[in-house]
Formats: sequence, structure tokens, C-alpha cells
Amino acid sequence: MIVTMPSPTDAQADLIAYLDFHVEAGADAVLDERPHDRFGEADAPAPTLRRVARPAPAPRPDDQPRPLVPPPGSPPPAVAPRTFGRAASAQPDEAASDARARARGARSLDELEKILAEFDACPLRFTAKNLVFADGNPEARVMFLGEAPGADEDRIGKPFMGRSGQLLDKMMKAVGLDRSSAYIGNIVPWRPPGNRNPTPQEVAVCRPFVERQIELVDPDIIVCLGAPATQTLTGTKDGILRTRGRLFPYTLPTREVKLLATLHPAFLLRQPVQKRLAWRDFRALRALLDGKA
Ligand code: URA
Repeated sequence: MIVTMPSPTDAQADLIAYLDFHVEAGADAVLDERPHDRFGEADAPAPTLRRVARPAPAPRPDDQPRPLVPPPGSPPPAVAPRTFGRAASAQPDEAASDARARARGARSLDELEKILAEFDACPLRFTAKNLVFADGNPEARVMFLGEAPGADEDRIGKPFMGRSGQLLDKMMKAVGLDRSSAYIGNIVPWRPPGNRNPTPQEVAVCRPFVERQIELVDPDIIVCLGAPATQTLTGTKDGILRTRGRLFPYTLPTREVKLLATLHPAFLLRQPVQKRLAWRDFRALRALLDGKA
């Protein structure tokens, strides 16, 4: 049987767009403008509509009338988690060690992407539209890493597609790089709702995947864009204005390579005066690639 859903009216479409906007912005509960007396509502008779709509289920042998107020000393009621899939139940440590085992099993970037696409212990995957794995050339000598996708990246499924991405493209171009000579990824491959920062737990769960991604790309130089990427991969707690321009050692399975910290393009869009510092870092990157540093 084919069931055709009626098209929403204009008013319904407006309402759906309005709700979508709020879900995008991170809203996860519906409230009302007026205060409600929920205790009073519990005592009030149920609306007639509900009563006539469904016959009462036959009582099960163990059915007991439930007291409205639990007896003193009884354990607190279990609160249902609001996330989905295994992300709802996995403890962060458990999820991170599961991520580690799965990431280790990937023998190629394609395999890693497939494993990540099926990984359900990070809650972000349930609010994101797409997995944002990477863009650029996996054979490149340089790998750029940002923090997490934004709305444009989430929609398109590739990193650095919006305004930050346009600025990153310009910065790369200024030192003779583009997406055919660089590889680009993020520390977290799903967009956090409303572009909030990923939580430390979300970063910890995604980290084994980005570490495996770096191993499989095997770049000569890793460029961390901003503090979250720098702190995650180096363990430093210093802010980016202290660490930018610094070279850190990064250990791959067969060799040690260099990690360069620099400013995130989104920060430069907010504070264009800092572009001169990023320019210094990109010149240092060019010198490294040319073997002059
Ligand atoms: N900012 C990031 O850190 N990554 C992206 O992919 C886009 C914006």
C-alpha cells in the first residue's frame, strides 16, 4: 500500500523551519511560556480525549497501584538518558577504549572512515547531519587539523567549507599550498549542536580516530589550527597565543615528525589584526617544507 503524506501548509512549514532552527542551535527540550503546576496536573483527571482513545491495558499479575510519592528511603528513580544509541549507555572511558580498539583495526583511510561512520558511542553523531572525515590529498606532506565542523561542513560533509575554510584556502595559497597538496581534518568529525565547543569527553572519544588518521596519512608536518587541536595532540595546557609558532615533536609509529601550532582561521576572522602572527607561522611552514628550517 502506498501512503502519501500530505504536504505541510505554509503555516506548518514555517513552524517546522522554526523548530529546525532551534534544534540546530542546540535546543533539546520544549517548554511553555506559561508556568505549569505539574503536581496539580498529576492529580487532575486525564483529558477525556485520552481516556476514550485507548482501552486500559489488562492488568498484569504483578501490577500494583503505584504511589505518587515514593516511600521514604526508596532509591531515586532512574532518569532516562537523553542521548541515543550506545552513546546513551557507554561510559566515557569505555567508549574511548572501544574507539581505540576500533581505530587500531583500520588498515587504510577508507577503512577508518567506514569504522567511524558506524561508531555509535559519540553522542555528536546523532545530532550531526554528516560525518566530516577529511578533504585534500592523503599523500600530502602537510596535514592541517581544526577543531570540529560547523554548519557548512556538516551540510557538505567536508572540513573547512565555510568562511573559515575560505580564509584557510587563502592562507595556504599564500605559501603555495592548496587542497591537492595538503590534507585537512578535524579533531572531532561531527558538528557539535549549535557550534558549541566539543566537550572534553567528546574529544577523548574521537581522539583515537584522529590519531589513527594521522598515522595513516603519515605527514611530515602537522599544523594544528587553534588551541583545541594543539592541546589535544600535544598535551599542552597553554593557550594558543603562547603556543603558536612553536614546533612540537609528534611521534608516529616509524618516525618523529613536527607539529606546528598556529591560529585558527575563525579567530583571525574575529581578530584580523592577528593575521600577521599567522603569516609568520605559515612562512615557517613553507621553510620547513622547503627544508630550510
Ligand atoms: N572550523 C573547524 O575547526 N573545522 C572546520 O571544519 C570548520 C571550521
